[in-house]
Formats: sequence, structure tokens, C-alpha cells
Amino acid sequence: MSSTLSNLKKCCIMAMVTFLIPCLSYSQKLVSVNTETNALVFTVNENNELNTLYFGDKLKNSSEYELIAKHYKQGTDYSEIYNSIYTPAGSKNLLEPAINITHTDGNTSLSLEYINAETNEVEPNVHLTKIVLQDKVYDLEVDLFFKAYYKEDVIETWTEIHNNEKGGIRLHKFASVNLYLYGDNDFWLTHYSGDWAQEMRPEETRLSHGIKVLDSKLGTRANLFQPSVFMVSIGKPATDNEGTVLMGGLEWSGNFRNEFEVDPLNNLRILSGINNYASDFELKKGEAFTTPKFWFSLSRTGKGDASRNIHNWARNYKVLDGKGTRLTLLNNWEATYFDFNEKKLKKLIEDADKLGVDLFLLDDGWFGNNYPRNADNAGLGDWEVNQKKLPNGIGTLVKTAEKNNVKFGIWIEPEMVNPDSDLYHEHPEWVIKQPMREEHYFRNQLVLDLSNPDVQDFIFNVVDGLFTENPNLAYIKWDCNSVIYNAHSDYLKDDEQSELYIKYVQGLYNVLERIREKYPKVPMMLCSGGGGRVDYGAMEYFTEFWPSDNTDPLERVFMQWEYSYFYPSSAIAAHVTDWGNQSIKFKTDVAMMGKMGFDIVVDELPKDELEFCQRAIKNYNELENVIWQGDLYKLKNPWKNELASLMYVGQDKKKAIVFNYLVNYRYEKGSHSPIKLKGLNPASIYEVEEINVFPGHEPIINKEHYSGDFLMKIGVNPKVSSGHPSVVLRLKEVSN
Ligand code: DGJ
Repeated sequence: MSSTLSNLKKCCIMAMVTFLIPCLSYSQKLVSVNTETNALVFTVNENNELNTLYFGDKLKNSSEYELIAKHYKQGTDYSEIYNSIYTPAGSKNLLEPAINITHTDGNTSLSLEYINAETNEVEPNVHLTKIVLQDKVYDLEVDLFFKAYYKEDVIETWTEIHNNEKGGIRLHKFASVNLYLYGDNDFWLTHYSGDWAQEMRPEETRLSHGIKVLDSKLGTRANLFQPSVFMVSIGKPATDNEGTVLMGGLEWSGNFRNEFEVDPLNNLRILSGINNYASDFELKKGEAFTTPKFWFSLSRTGKGDASRNIHNWARNYKVLDGKGTRLTLLNNWEATYFDFNEKKLKKLIEDADKLGVDLFLLDDGWFGNNYPRNADNAGLGDWEVNQKKLPNGIGTLVKTAEKNNVKFGIWIEPEMVNPDSDLYHEHPEWVIKQPMREEHYFRNQLVLDLSNPDVQDFIFNVVDGLFTENPNLAYIKWDCNSVIYNAHSDYLKDDEQSELYIKYVQGLYNVLERIREKYPKVPMMLCSGGGGRVDYGAMEYFTEFWPSDNTDPLERVFMQWEYSYFYPSSAIAAHVTDWGNQSIKFKTDVAMMGKMGFDIVVDELPKDELEFCQRAIKNYNELENVIWQGDLYKLKNPWKNELASLMYVGQDKKKAIVFNYLVNYRYEKGSHSPIKLKGLNPASIYEVEEINVFPGHEPIINKEHYSGDFLMKIGVNPKVSSGHPSVVLRLKEVSN
């Protein structure tokens, strides 16, 4: 105990010297992580274990945190670590552990003692708290990190496990986070399910005692059935404007496991990390294992505030070039599928110019010669230009794009291989498959073994080669259509096979890191046969993601509604396509609330539709900054109303855009009363005008003036009806 106390003192002396916020109070034995409105406070118990005391609204007087515990009389915590900051397995834990290991000598017990904590300023607004725990018997150290983004009210947390024992140890479980929420058995979990074209379907359920697990065992495309993002409301289901809600997610593009355990004291334990399913990991003597980060944000004023905080955090710190601009584009996937040649593409490039977008994106089908990529069953892995379709290579297309004042982007799926390819025949050892078993395909393809550095080099060279040959290449769409079946690596040793799922993702990040070192800002879209992959680990390398191949705009209203709780609009790609029976106006209006693109045959558009799209793109260009960088307010929830309504308000409150869509087409459904707006300056006068009006139609609202006060207290009726199923309003401040 005395060595611990001296450590505590040491920490506090260091805190006085170098730290901006106090991390630990010697007398109270507290460690706290603070953001602008929240405090996450841990306390050292009599056995010198660190447990969660509190997570919520910051107290004005920090000395009062020590008074919290005595007001809880909930029953007996037999182990005294139900609320452990990082629950060790194999000693006295009675609940789900965060860490489970086998020591060098085969012993499986672990008990973690608090050693010290320190908080440093990493940069203005960002503080990093490091907490050191140590096993009482073995030379095993666990360091917990909490990175607090002060203004954004977001915390990232992760763990480093240091093996200082005499030999190797085996990690069986190694969570990134072990949160403890107090709440009288009144927790409401919102999680998501999905499949191809059905991504982000929300389900809200009241948690009951026991453990609810959300996980992925898919390897790649890890989010296909469920993403790792979730919300937990405490006390009652939160709405956009009220209620206490925690949002979180794991920054990891592979198998994950989220566990929600309501414990015998009626509190909620949340564990999230890499899925330990089939993933035992050997940690050699002297090595450390770093878990992926888990991000979370707590709001007591509903989902809207939480998501605005997350958007700010994402733009400021996470999404690649989050504060930067984005390119509108014309994609040829649905216009041609695999059936194109140079002439057809050149025409489409001219059409991109005619439409007024920034970039033409060439999708799947441009490569493979011995195994031409004319369908999804051949050619993947053979990244040379198909001579038949494109005899003059990609270069001539890039030049055509330049001539037509648009940029040029290209699709790749570099992690994958078709059995019908040169690559598969030349390097069967690069493919993930079980040597003794039949191959099993997902979209006729297999996954390359990214744990192998040669494969990593190959993938890096695919991308690097494209940029070297075409220095003006301006955009990459990075697809990933297969899950991992028959997980086995020819490269890893027999006793390392259980590390494949983890080493795959580490290999992927290694490649992306190298790409970003050389090409720091080229926009890249993260796609995974639709939305099978997005998370904030990947988004450090990508500027945007493809949420779903389902581009039916009515479906997208719901899907984008859900994605936009967790990701900023500049990152959510939304294209106008042939999916859905709605008008081109409805489709364009929906695409406009994300990062807009088109995937249509422009040449076949009737004159008025083309004119409409051209004008809408101009409107988008004028308002893109409001949409990408503004604050998102959700006004009418489509799951509960006849319409969806949401708005973006520019950071300076001078401009705003309001999107309204009918989602129920029954008789007389629509907006019968005004919708109250949010986020405006009450004293300012705003000019309200319907934009994206179809040629030949009159605007529903034409430059009417209202105060921000009126618009927020009374509102405005967008007059959405089956005759006008989508209405976009622009607000401009005219005086203040
Ligand atoms: C799946 C993607 O989601 C689509 O947008 C398209 O790029 C195809 N792959 C191409 O094979």
C-alpha cells in the first residue's frame, strides 16, 4: 500500500508541474477524465483496485465526488469489482471480464492493482490520461488511456497490455473499454442490424439482467450484419431533443464484440473490443498489445446534441480531411455495369461535364486480360487495364476528363481475388483458405491474406502504380465485397493461426498508412458491397463511405437518418440512381443531404430533368459548406411521422437548409402544420425560399422573411404532400 501511496503522490506532484487538469486527488483517491460537460471519475478501493465511481454531469465542486458513493445503497458487490475500470478474469471476478490471459507458467489468474495516473495536454482541447495497473503477482502491466476532447464532449479509450514476464503469454480477451453506468436497471439499447441493401436498421430494446452481445465474426465486411456503433439511453428512451444517451463505437474494421451486462446491482457494464472469437493472441516476452480505440459521448439533452458533438469531433480529428471539401461525381456503375468501352466512357465523361459535377468515377470492370472482368466471377486481382475495352489505357480517359473540366477517379477492390485470375494461379499462397477444405466463395471471390507483408506490398503497389501512371488521378473508390470464410493463412505459423483475424486488420491499416504517407489527401471512398464496413478506425484513411447499394431514396431517408447520428454528412455518400420509383427531384433532394453524386445515364434524361439536376448541383455547390460543416438538427423523425424533416445550420448561422420528405403516401398525408426550426439566431431576419424547384413549377415559399425567433417558436410549413413529396428550403440571413 505504501508504494502505491507514494505513486499517488508522485502523480499529483507531476500533475501540478505539467498538467492542466488535475487527474488525481491524493486525499480522495480519485482519477477523473473531464470534458466540457462530463466527468468520468474512478476511485481506488481499499484493495487498491480502480473502480468507476461516476460518469455524468460535471460537479462544480470536485471535492464532492467523494460523497457520491455513500448515496448508493444497492446491495452487495461480493467481489468489490463489479464496477472495475478493467475487469480481470480468473481471480475474484464474478461478472464478464475485460481481460483474460494465460501467463507464461500456465496460470490463468489475473488481479489488477492501481499504480498511478497522469494527464497531459496533447494539444489545445485534447488531454490524455494514462492509468497504470499492474498484476499483484505477475509482471504484467495494463495501461489504460483516455483521450478527452474537451469541447466536443467525446472520449476515446484504449488499452495497452505489456508482457514483462519471463516468456510468452496468451491473450484470450482484451477489451478496449469497460464502462460502468449507474441507472437502476433502466437502460435502453439502440443497435442496428443489416444485410446487403438493408443497412442500419435500428432496434431499440430495454436491457434486462444478463448479457446482450452484439458482435461480428465476418472478418472483413465486419458490419454487414451489425455495425459496432450503438446508443444507450438511461432512464427512458432518449429522443432527438431530450433524454440521457451515450453513443459509442469501436474504431476497428474487423471482428468486434460489444457486451451489455446489467449486473446484480442493476447497473450497466459495457465492454467493447476486438472479438475474441477464434482470436487468441500470443504476446511474446517484452511485447505490448494495443487494443483499438473505442469512442463515446454522453449527452443529457438527447441524441441531437450527442450527434452534433460527434460530427464536430469527427470533422476536427477523425475523418480524413474532415474540414476539407468534397467532390460531387458521376459514377458509371449503374449506367453501364461491366459493359463499357472507351467510346462509351468518353461520352459519360462529357456527360459529367454537362451535368456540372466535379468528377467522373470509373467503377468495376476496367481490368483483367487473361480473365477479363466482364462479370463478377473473373479478373479480381489482375489490375492491368483490359486491352479490349480500353486499348489506350486509363491515361486517355484522364485526359478526356481534363479536357471536359472534370476530375477522374477509379474503383478498386485490392483485398480480393477471383479464382479465375492470374493472381490466384501465381500466388495461391496469398489467399485465405483452409488447405484441406473446399473453397467457399462470397460473390465468387476470396480474400487475400493481409497478414502477409508481401500481400501488403502488392496492395500498396496496386494503388501506387495507379497514381504513378496517372498522376492526375483524383479519387479512389475502395471496395470490399467478401467476408472471410475458412480463415487460414499460409503465411502465419500453426500456433499463430488464431491471430489471423487481427493481423488482417493490422495489415490493412499498415497499407492504408503507407498510402496516406505518400498521398495524404486524395479523396477515397470506403465501400464494402454497400455499407458493410464503416467505422472510425477506417475513416482516418477515407474521406467518405458508401452507406448502401440501396439507393432507393425513400429507403435512404431512413438509412441516412440513422447513419447521420454517428457520421457527418460530408462522409455519407449519397447518389441519385435508378433505384426507386420516385421523381428525379425526390432522388436528388435526398442525395443532397449527404455527399452528393449521380449514377444515371445523363444522356437519357428528359430536358427538364437535366435542367433540374444542373440547377440542383449549383444549389448544392452554394450550400455545400452548410451541409458538410454545419450543425444537423433533426426536426421530424420519419419512423414516427408522415414525413422526415431535418436541417443544417451553417456554423455562423447565416445560412441554413431544410430538407423535408414525405415518407407515408396514404391519403392526405403530409405536413399540416408548421415545423419548428432549430439552431438559428433568434434576432436575425431570414429569407426563406424553396429551392430545387422543378422547371415549370412555382416555389411553395418564395423569399418570405421571418425572424429566427418566429421560425424556431412557430416554424414554417413546407407543405409536403403527395403532390410535393420533397421540399428543400434555403434560409439566408438578411439582417441581424
Ligand atoms: C459493390 C459496390 O457497393 C457497388 O457500388 C459497385 O462498386 C460494385 N461493388 C462493383 O462491383
